[in-house]
Amino acid sequence: MILISGATGGIGGEVCRLLKAAGTPFRAMARKQEQVDAFARQGIDGVLGDFDRPETLAGAMQGCDTMFLITPPTPNQFAQETAAIDAAKRAGIGRIVKISASDGNVRSPVPWARTHALIDHHLRAAGIGWTILKPTAFMQNFLWFKDPIARGFLPQVTGTGSVSWIDTRDVARVAATVLMQDGHDSATYFLTGPETLDMKEAAKRLSAAVGHKVRYLDLPTPLFRALLRLTGNSRWMAKGLVVQFADVVAGHHDIDPTFEIERLTGQAPHSFADFVRDHRDSFARPGS
Ligand SMILES: NC(=O)c1ccc[n+]([C@@H]2O[C@H](COP(=O)([O-])OP(=O)(O)OC[C@H]3O[C@@H](n4cnc5c(N)ncnc54)[C@H](OP(=O)(O)O)[C@@H]3O)[C@@H](O)[C@H]2O)c1
Repeated sequence: MILISGATGGIGGEVCRLLKAAGTPFRAMARKQEQVDAFARQGIDGVLGDFDRPETLAGAMQGCDTMFLITPPTPNQFAQETAAIDAAKRAGIGRIVKISASDGNVRSPVPWARTHALIDHHLRAAGIGWTILKPTAFMQNFLWFKDPIARGFLPQVTGTGSVSWIDTRDVARVAATVLMQDGHDSATYFLTGPETLDMKEAAKRLSAAVGHKVRYLDLPTPLFRALLRLTGNSRWMAKGLVVQFADVVAGHHDIDPTFEIERLTGQAPHSFADFVRDHRDSFARPGS
């Protein structure tokens, strides 16, 4: 039995869909009863579990031998994931497949990159099986800017820096594959999309797919931070994103394409053009 955390989220939800389609037994963990009830209506075995209340985890993990571990980037992420890893060990879970980040580094100026590196260390030392998935930045991040894109502008602070953008559907496909297979113990996989794009090129691809001109707008960082706040990001998140984009990406520190997705799943990853086509309505001009 596989326990899927983050089952109501983008990646975890897609992992559930793939496991269900494959007929693989799993249990979807959620922190609210109404979410568990919604899983039951879809014929999915749901269970209550909250990383902020570690006392709920033993019950959620009971009878499971494998766990998919994902949490959102917040200041609580280290406490949440290390509590989950410790609870998994106590519950007899034999392997954890964890979503980390390609830029994970204990010396990173990006808070979640530092946190993921520390959690990865904790997991490797925990004495249970592990597989660590380290994706680059998600194509789905472009949806934060769907309104400016619909109006013809792609705001960023990355200069000429580029990213090997990955579609979260491919991250989920790798996760589902390694959850269902043996042979991935003690493995760390760096996951990327098929090509590296800077923002000028991304704007060009957006223009071609959505049918109106989209221009890359290289903003001063205070303005970009304000925009991130306006689009619903917390102060902590906005500050971290500015460092990530203005220092790490603009400084040309992202990784090159690795082609791990194709190797692990036998299927090529989604291209940026695929992503834009599949979210075309989100980027369309208002009223068009
Ligand atoms: N964005 C990127 O470019 C990028 C790149 C590389 C790696 N990553 C990593 O990818 C991960 C996924 O991030 P995301 O923002 O995309 O996730 P997400 O899809 O928003 O999913 C987060 C999930 O965690 C659940 N959750 C939140 N708090 C919880 C708690 N206390 N107990 C149990 N479950 C809880 C949420 O449930 P609710 O529905 O109840 O909120 C949701 O199902 C992060 O670790 C991030 O660092 C992101």
